[in-house]
Amino acid sequence: MSRTSRNLLVTGGAGFIGSNFVHHWCGHYPGDRVLVLDALTYAGNRQNLASLEGKANLRFVQGDIGDRPLVDGLLREEAIDTVVHFAAESHVDRSILGPGAFVQTNVVGTFTLLEAFRQHWMANGQSAEYRFHHISTDEVYGSLGAEDPAFSETTPYAPNSPYSASKAGSDHLVRAYYHTYGLPTLMTNCSNNYGPYHFPEKLIPLMCINILMGKPLPVYGDGQNVRDWLYVGDHCSAVDAVIHRGTPGETYNVGGNNEVKNLDLVHMLCNLMDELAPDLPVRPSKKLITFVKDRPGHDRRYAIDATKIQTELGWTPAETVEKGLRRTVEWYLSHQSWWQPLLSEEYQAYYRQVYA
Ligand code: NAD
Ligand code: DAU
Repeated sequence: MSRTSRNLLVTGGAGFIGSNFVHHWCGHYPGDRVLVLDALTYAGNRQNLASLEGKANLRFVQGDIGDRPLVDGLLREEAIDTVVHFAAESHVDRSILGPGAFVQTNVVGTFTLLEAFRQHWMANGQSAEYRFHHISTDEVYGSLGAEDPAFSETTPYAPNSPYSASKAGSDHLVRAYYHTYGLPTLMTNCSNNYGPYHFPEKLIPLMCINILMGKPLPVYGDGQNVRDWLYVGDHCSAVDAVIHRGTPGETYNVGGNNEVKNLDLVHMLCNLMDELAPDLPVRPSKKLITFVKDRPGHDRRYAIDATKIQTELGWTPAETVEKGLRRTVEWYLSHQSWWQPLLSEEYQAYYRQVYA
């Protein structure tokens, strides 16, 4: 079936999920134009897009989603019809240390982008083909008990961290722009992603890197918190399905069907590293596991009910956590030159603040 080509603006396209999505889109739709707008905060990295450098249909602009004149100019120049909005401050622990940047980028930045895109959409005859796809998180639904049903699209919002509160604020703005102005918005709320280009501060890369360096593996609290792990490639295919076949104004929950307790996940990573890494400083690496003070307000369990996207759009995750973790561990082993420069002095200072 033929499809009309699109001109995409991908915000946060040099971050973890955004860069995986740019690889996905450029690989699947080489005739589309992709403009990446990324502020290159500590989490943004041009290296994530290095293998696409020089492609005629891909342009990178370093800039802030909150810079309205810049965004207005880019929407016009590139005749953007589709915004895929990944840019955000994304780490819960950093939101506890300094919530201001989260409100600024996640709430005010999203508002600026929505307003710029609304003006651009109106100037182009309010085209029904335009899309504003907002990437959100399961964390907006709060925390589940062990026996609670998984989050569905109708679960009431109950964010518990400054990060999730700021994402909830941005979700409400997106919803309001559909209901008030008819802007063709789409939203996905997904569970924990993992895979290539994941910044070292997050659980899975942090554990992989610490095992390789023989450093303690800090498990928060009792390690019994549960996350629903989604391979990042599956997330990209879900966003693709929603952009092509989703209904404007709708929200779709995206999950991996892979609920795992943190401590079990760390054990799986230790076993994989023991098997795949030849020269570990400490072996077996599970000897490095260290229980540390819990994260304040730590959500106990997340789980996604992805029935809607499965039944309406035919999307299902392809990766099991066993296979996906193996691929991820292999990636971190073969990409030491990617992650080593990220362990900068600034990162070490952050690390000391959280784990001291
Ligand atoms: P990330 O922190 O790896 O990347 C964020 C990117 O946004 C970086 O490249 C950064 O430079 C850029 N950015 C930050 N502020 C900006 C600004 N003001 N203007 C322009 N660019 C800016 O994040 P991620 O893990 O890739 O998450 C991407 C999106 O997915 C976020 O909206 C996050 O809330 C959401 N999400 C993430 C997960 C996950 O498990 N990582 C799960 C659910 C939802
Ligand atoms: O659920 C989706 C969310 O997943 C996204 O919206 C966020 O952007 C993303 O960062 C992620 O949030 P989490 O807080 O769940 O991810 P993180 O990797 O920080 O932690 C995963 C779990 O591991 C969590 O229960 C806290 C725990 N943890 C984390 C770190 C960094 C530890 O026990 N030790 C650690 O050192």
